[in-house]
Amino acid sequence: MYYPDEIIEEVIARNDIVDVISSYVRLNRRGSNYFGLCPFHNEKTGSFSVTPQKRMFYCFGCHVGGNVISFIQRYENMSFTEAVKLLADRAGMKLPESDDPEAKKREDQRSLLLAVNKEAAKYYYAQLRSEAGERGLKYLQGRGLTDETMRKFGLGFARSSKDETYRYLKSKGFSDDLLNVSGLFNFRENQGMTDKFWNRVIFPIMDTGHRVIGFGGRVMGSGEPKYLNSPDTPIFDKSRNLYGLNIAKSSKAKNLIVCEGYMDVIALHQAGFDQAVASLGTAFTTQHANILARYARESVRQGEIARHKEILLCFDSDGPGTDAAKRALVILHEAGLRAKVINMTPHKDPDEFIKALGAQEFEKRIEEAENGFMFEVRMLENEYDMKDPSGRSAFISDVAARLLRFEDQVERDNYAGLISYRYDVSKDGLAELISKQALSASNIRIAPKPIPTRKEFLDTADEASRLPQGRLLSWLCDSPELYTVVSRYISADDFADPLYRKVAQLMFDQLQKDGPDPAQILSMFPDEEDQRRIAEAFHSDVGKLDNIKMKEGALKDLMINIKRLSLTRQDRDDNGFDAIKRIRKELEQLESADIKLNQ
Ligand code: CTP
Ligand code: MN
Repeated sequence: MYYPDEIIEEVIARNDIVDVISSYVRLNRRGSNYFGLCPFHNEKTGSFSVTPQKRMFYCFGCHVGGNVISFIQRYENMSFTEAVKLLADRAGMKLPESDDPEAKKREDQRSLLLAVNKEAAKYYYAQLRSEAGERGLKYLQGRGLTDETMRKFGLGFARSSKDETYRYLKSKGFSDDLLNVSGLFNFRENQGMTDKFWNRVIFPIMDTGHRVIGFGGRVMGSGEPKYLNSPDTPIFDKSRNLYGLNIAKSSKAKNLIVCEGYMDVIALHQAGFDQAVASLGTAFTTQHANILARYARESVRQGEIARHKEILLCFDSDGPGTDAAKRALVILHEAGLRAKVINMTPHKDPDEFIKALGAQEFEKRIEEAENGFMFEVRMLENEYDMKDPSGRSAFISDVAARLLRFEDQVERDNYAGLISYRYDVSKDGLAELISKQALSASNIRIAPKPIPTRKEFLDTADEASRLPQGRLLSWLCDSPELYTVVSRYISADDFADPLYRKVAQLMFDQLQKDGPDPAQILSMFPDEEDQRRIAEAFHSDVGKLDNIKMKEGALKDLMINIKRLSLTRQDRDDNGFDAIKRIRKELEQLESADIKLNQ
């Protein structure tokens, strides 16, 4: 606990969990809950749930769960304090200063790393404009960049030297430990610290707050590797950052253009397309898609998502670029985004295109961008012998299977219409193929999914004993009115599992006062593993209980179960023997009790 409980409570209360999570994950309403694709593991079906009533999220696939703060921590890769800050900002709250030493240390490290990067960026920037940087400046000018563009992107130059940058940053007072995690240097026992970037033009990579979080460096002319990038560090995660987004996020354009490289983004911005971003050197990820979704969206209202910006893919027109585009389309689709593909032939990338044909031609290509699915289908033609009738039908079957990706019937029908028109197949024939594919696809889906991480730390015996305890907590949370009955027989002390016992104590206190608030309880347990187990408990399935008799029976069984487990508890404060005598008696009473719920 780094902030007073009331502050945490207010942060949770003022950040509606559905609102917050919808800006990262596409959620669909199902009953009183929301479901979507889990952002924390790869999946095709939505196991990720958000329960507004509990103010919690939980993934039934990978068992990650928590409240709105833990979501931000995990998604944004932030510390607890940072997540609280972000959410407080979002809600326009002012926070008191934090005083937890551990959190403070982590945060200090982050801000120091940002300071190192800022200082390094300034250093490279100055070098580019000094005598030593002449080669770099010539190179960038040769690629058609104006001074204004170079300034806007903070471009710089690292000249040939073994450890010049290192010595410069040392002179600024940064420690070796810090410089070592900054990713700017190589460290070898016999050589000490040496500059990672030398004789390269430098592209600082900024986050959306315009803070330098990493660097890319390009050799001038030919040489390997062509680009060198900062490794992932505590402040830089390639799979969650898009180059140029710090500028593109405020673009007024009706679309967002995603391309491959630094120079593509820069050339596009210089030509007036300030909506361009790039996923640098790494494959396009689900996190990238979610970030784009956030900026493509103008408003999120009650889970109903209105999107306003089109996503345009502008990957290289060579083989690898086309493959990357196909993969990105699927990832974007899963994130709920539909994208179009810009055709740049006969040129390789947007940089070369603009240089050869100019901005106006590029604008035309934007207007002519091809629907992503139709692009995918057109590319698929290359994999079949389209002149041969059986090749053609195999192709159409493949297309039918891909049409299944559209869960929305109307959308799927629209595409089926387009396909039937373009490839001259009857609508009925295509519809039949689609349902055939749906059958075999559903067979595939039934295959058991491995759930790896969980078993590593839960042995089955333990789990069996936790189950009823979690179930009672979850049930009380859903139906607080049961507490009157439950409290007659069960006390928090009866929970054999130490973690659940603490949770039960907090929960019973809440039940006596304002009612259950699991999200608040969760915030008292900073440990990720504890949070996961608590979220799991509150998402235990109580089962379908149709009538009051079944409910009464189930509740009684559950309480007996918990009371029996209570006997196995080893860590009591009071005299063990007396306690066991007492609980035995309570158990007998419970067993002969007549549990009535309707009064
Ligand atoms: N890339 C990388 N490492 C490499 C090659 C490429 O990180 N060895 C990344 C860079 O972010 C680069 C992008 O992949 O911008 C696209 O690579 P490529 O198409 O080869 O380069 P271009 O962007 O065309 O670079 P340039 O125009 O400067 O040749
Ligand atoms: Mn290029």
